[in-house]
Amino acid sequence: MGIFYDEAQRVFHLRGKDVSYVLGVVRQGYLAHLYYGKGIREFAGSNGLTFIKRDFSPSVGIGDETFSLDSLPQEYPQYGNTDFRKPAYQVKGADGTTISDLRYDSHRIFAGKVGLDGLPATYVERDGDADTLEITMVDAVLGLRVILQYTVFEAENVIARSARFVNEGQEALQILKAASASVDFKDSDYDLLTLPGAWGNERQVERAPLRHGMQSVDSVRGGSSHQQNPFVALLGKHATEDVGEVYGFNLVYSGNFEASVEVDQFATTRVILGLHSFNFDWKLESGTEFQTPEVVMVYSDTGLGGMSRQYHRFYQKHLVRGVYRDQTRPILVNNWEATYFNFTEEKILDIAKVGEKLGMELLVLDDGWFGKRNSDKSSLGDWFVNAEKLPNGLKNLAENVNNLGMKFGLWFEPEMVSVDSDLYREHPEWCIHVPNRAKSESRNQLVLDFSREDVRTEITRRMVAILEEVPVSYVKWDMNRHLTEVGSAHFPSDRQQEIAHRHILGVYSVMDAITTRFPDILFESCSGGGGRFDPGMLYYMPQTWTSDNTDAVSRLKIQYGTSLVYPIVTMGSHVSSAPNHQVGRLTSLEMRGNVAMSGNLGYELDLTTLTDAEQKIVKQQIATYKEMRQLIQFGDFYRLKSPFEGNETAWMFVDEAKTECYVFYFQVLATPARPLQFVKLAGLNEAAQYQLRGTEQIFGGDELMYAGIKVPTALIGDFQTVSWHFQLK
Ligand code: DGJ
Repeated sequence: MGIFYDEAQRVFHLRGKDVSYVLGVVRQGYLAHLYYGKGIREFAGSNGLTFIKRDFSPSVGIGDETFSLDSLPQEYPQYGNTDFRKPAYQVKGADGTTISDLRYDSHRIFAGKVGLDGLPATYVERDGDADTLEITMVDAVLGLRVILQYTVFEAENVIARSARFVNEGQEALQILKAASASVDFKDSDYDLLTLPGAWGNERQVERAPLRHGMQSVDSVRGGSSHQQNPFVALLGKHATEDVGEVYGFNLVYSGNFEASVEVDQFATTRVILGLHSFNFDWKLESGTEFQTPEVVMVYSDTGLGGMSRQYHRFYQKHLVRGVYRDQTRPILVNNWEATYFNFTEEKILDIAKVGEKLGMELLVLDDGWFGKRNSDKSSLGDWFVNAEKLPNGLKNLAENVNNLGMKFGLWFEPEMVSVDSDLYREHPEWCIHVPNRAKSESRNQLVLDFSREDVRTEITRRMVAILEEVPVSYVKWDMNRHLTEVGSAHFPSDRQQEIAHRHILGVYSVMDAITTRFPDILFESCSGGGGRFDPGMLYYMPQTWTSDNTDAVSRLKIQYGTSLVYPIVTMGSHVSSAPNHQVGRLTSLEMRGNVAMSGNLGYELDLTTLTDAEQKIVKQQIATYKEMRQLIQFGDFYRLKSPFEGNETAWMFVDEAKTECYVFYFQVLATPARPLQFVKLAGLNEAAQYQLRGTEQIFGGDELMYAGIKVPTALIGDFQTVSWHFQLK
């Protein structure tokens, strides 16, 4: 395992436990893609490249009609010399031309992995965790050097890719496109799976067959977005949840991205992921470098389920950081849906008191505690306590919450400014805007220009002041609008198309500063719910608010879709009140509880209004969750029935040693003449015996998985749920 270089053939074989990725230097120094898929011991070239003359595919240079980049599977394709498919990058020279021609120059292989300058990225704890290959490609005419970075995490079967551009010429270059990775597949017999959505409806699963031409998903919103996730997967035609080949691609980035899949005239498929090339133009001065974000590629031959479990384990170990990485997370109560902006100190403490009594561990004070913020119309940027609402101060409130035996958490939206704020009145030039053009508001707010160092410094200073004074154990970092009129008063005209990316780099640098300074605070990222549920955020903050939609039925799909890529422990999921505030649906407390307990559990409703009977149910949910928390948050997750395919959803959690499992089942609508329902479990030890908790019943792991368990027929009515807990006998 590791990276093998066959010098005679000039072939690199990146070998994980069960995966191989092979590339090689071919004619004239081009870098060809040779194989990606199930692990093979040695690559001898049985599927070798085909060099034949193809009409209307020009030859590279003169004299060899069988060699065209148009039909060569490549590693980092370029524009302008015989390949007519979309390129992975494009660079404009000082002469205004946009053709480039990278050829192999050198390479190095080393144990471990290096960090990516200014960007979130997967990491190793020990050099033995991964091996890295860096291939240097050179375009002598442009004076451009591109270093293609490949890291193979052997145990996790993951390959991480990125690219670094270096201008070695005398003149400035312009990078018009710089993807992180490109993979050319030899065929197109795949379905494309993506995770589109909207606010309150994030990460819905869509699957469709590939067809000739371009298919792409992207975001030009300045955030990775609710509307598309920076993730695509190619699925073999017969791949399902449990079987078949799946290739997942996930970009570690939180801003504008594009993921494109192109099927060409010869039915080959090119997948490219990276920064969005739309409205992107990066001036690369002589002697400077540009680093792209990273793509995390996962291959699974055990269907989507296998892919997800690989992503979960990998992100848990090699992306998420900090003291909370391996720690179970506190059960919180958040006051947002309980009070919105309308709260008093007394009300917050009343909620905390009930929360503590029911077993909750953390009180989160959401939006509205600062400036003069009584609605979403003012005060973002004025990170000073609102003395009218909290006359005794934030510190006092936090201490009182602590005295009740609960931790205290606080909401911020650091990247934003309200026009009605002291900050904006002092520094109107600090927002993202284009001079002489009207500014567009969204939720009555503007975006601070985090490409500017002065802005970053001041916002960091204000946050640090609060976090140093107040005993805060948790921070919710929100971001509630997308970017318009993207421009910065600080940068010259020839750098305006860098701003969207510079802004995200600025956001990352503030996140880095704050999370490093307060290593014991648990951070949860949020963007109007799940508008930035991406690996970039997870690098800084180990959990994300999954969606502003807390309706249990909507959450089945949202959490199912999110679980395709992101670990369960990263998914904030709260029990809220009924009727639900976003969709008006009435569901039972049991249904809301089981859906929220399927993630990182919290509560978000006015606990002081719960009846005694409801309090009893909540108390029981919390006791159960505490008992199951390690298993749910860090166990292996198996999706058993998809909400996208019918009226039922089921999923389960199994510990690594397969000694116990917890299964949740949900039925959305009551149906007449309901067929008998069974749930086939997964991930258990076939040969082991498991006891159904609370009963004397014992079943074999094989029986539970192959014959399945019976769903009680007594589930009458809409929005029904049941759970089972099996333990090794
Ligand atoms: C959007 C978040 O997703 C909500 O949970 C809440 O924090 C509001 N913002 C507060 O403005």
